[in-house]
Amino acid sequence: TETPASLIMIFGATGDLAKRKLYPSLYHLYRKGKLADHFAVIGVARRPWTNDVLREHVKDSVLTSIKDAENIDDFISHFYYQPHDVSDSNSYIELKNLADELDNKYTLQGNRIFYLAMAPEFFGTIAEHLKMDGLTNTEGFNRLVIEKPFGHDLESAIQLNNRIRNVFPENEIYRIDHYLGKEMVQNIEVIRFANAIFEPLWNNRFISNIQITSSEVLGVEERGGYYETSGALRDMVQNHMLQMVALLAMEPPIKLTPKEIRSEKVKVLGALRPVENEEVPQYFVRGQYGPSNLNGQEIPGYREELNVNPDSNTDTYVAGKLMIDNFRWAGVPFYIRTGKRMQTKSTKIIIQFKDVPMNLYYKSDNQLAPNLLVIHIQPEEGITLHLNAKQSSGHSTETTPVKLDFSNNDIAGLNTPEAYEKLLHDCLRGDATNFTHWDEVALSWSFVDKISNFWENEKAAFPNYEAGSMGPKEADQLLEKDGFFWWNVS
Ligand code: BG6
Repeated sequence: TETPASLIMIFGATGDLAKRKLYPSLYHLYRKGKLADHFAVIGVARRPWTNDVLREHVKDSVLTSIKDAENIDDFISHFYYQPHDVSDSNSYIELKNLADELDNKYTLQGNRIFYLAMAPEFFGTIAEHLKMDGLTNTEGFNRLVIEKPFGHDLESAIQLNNRIRNVFPENEIYRIDHYLGKEMVQNIEVIRFANAIFEPLWNNRFISNIQITSSEVLGVEERGGYYETSGALRDMVQNHMLQMVALLAMEPPIKLTPKEIRSEKVKVLGALRPVENEEVPQYFVRGQYGPSNLNGQEIPGYREELNVNPDSNTDTYVAGKLMIDNFRWAGVPFYIRTGKRMQTKSTKIIIQFKDVPMNLYYKSDNQLAPNLLVIHIQPEEGITLHLNAKQSSGHSTETTPVKLDFSNNDIAGLNTPEAYEKLLHDCLRGDATNFTHWDEVALSWSFVDKISNFWENEKAAFPNYEAGSMGPKEADQLLEKDGFFWWNVS
């Protein structure tokens, strides 16, 4: 479908997210002809910039990721800057005047997207002013795009939600989870529901466990202040990790509409077995990186990072075992782990199938490996199926593991759009499928809150893993006690 005309207001226009992701993504859409000719962008932020300063900034940001940026000057001519004070009505009135003027100039039909790419403490205030000061009072659509974190726990998320829902109806709120914009995360559903060979096996009769790992090499960088209030559980598990679990575990939707898909995901999150108080250590492991020396380079521990309490109790690593108590998944553990300062930057899902009923090929040196389906989310994009085949030079009783490999990078690689490009395009077209519905947010928080409450009341023995490692050893024990281990396969 054709993208409708729209005015996009970016709050936090001078910030990091806008620069690294939003401007290049908008440019990609522009160049592919996916932005209507009728579009304008207002950059909104505190600094006293001018249109020209913003345009140069946008140009720089685009040129950093794309060398031959055709028509860049035409592209940036659609950008305007409005200095802003988030709690002052006069500021919103000036913004409204500019918006109305651009609405006329570019025939934008009153369609408006308000993108909040800034500190979350202002989300509620901005939404309320947008209504109060008349910015949402137009003929066209009014959509709110809101970055994470959506609250700090269930209670604060409810408060925030109530404030924004006073202004925008649920179907005009686009809560970003950028993992939902990743090509291979979107592929989970297609792999499952467009192939006859997986879905019949996709349950507790044939799957023994599922493992999701999202590891990062970087530490907290300059985000220590935020991260101290968050930790890996809130930063990664509440949103990205649980979203991947929901996509892996959901029932097939009756149609591919946002409503049907999201309601299937909500059911999964509602079926997560709550982990309460003393049970937490049986199901969850937390970690924090300590200093290390990697190839002659000193890496500081988390407690030495900028704006971090030298005695910090914050988790930079989480591993967990999730149980989904429904017919399909009863008895199948979903293991998740994520952390900063680990060995590699990689996100991968491994589905381990149950063993064949008996091993005809058994010899002491010939263990049959289980079948694994690996979904590579990043940096490689693709799927690998691990099978057993006959060892070509050997007897017919000897097997060898083989891999069927599909790599997305080989085919579409160069043009795989970035998550933000897809999500912005979806929002312009009014497709909320790959954004989180309030019900998902609420269920995720209520699951995560029980764990963080328990942890907050217990001092952890931190640091407990070395920067550059795969996390604390307790995370291995979490699987060992169930007879499993973390697969390290490609
Ligand atoms: C963000 C977190 O949501 O996701 C960051 O706030 C994290 O701490 C990032 O680094 C990871 O995203 P990606 O796309 O690099 O895996």
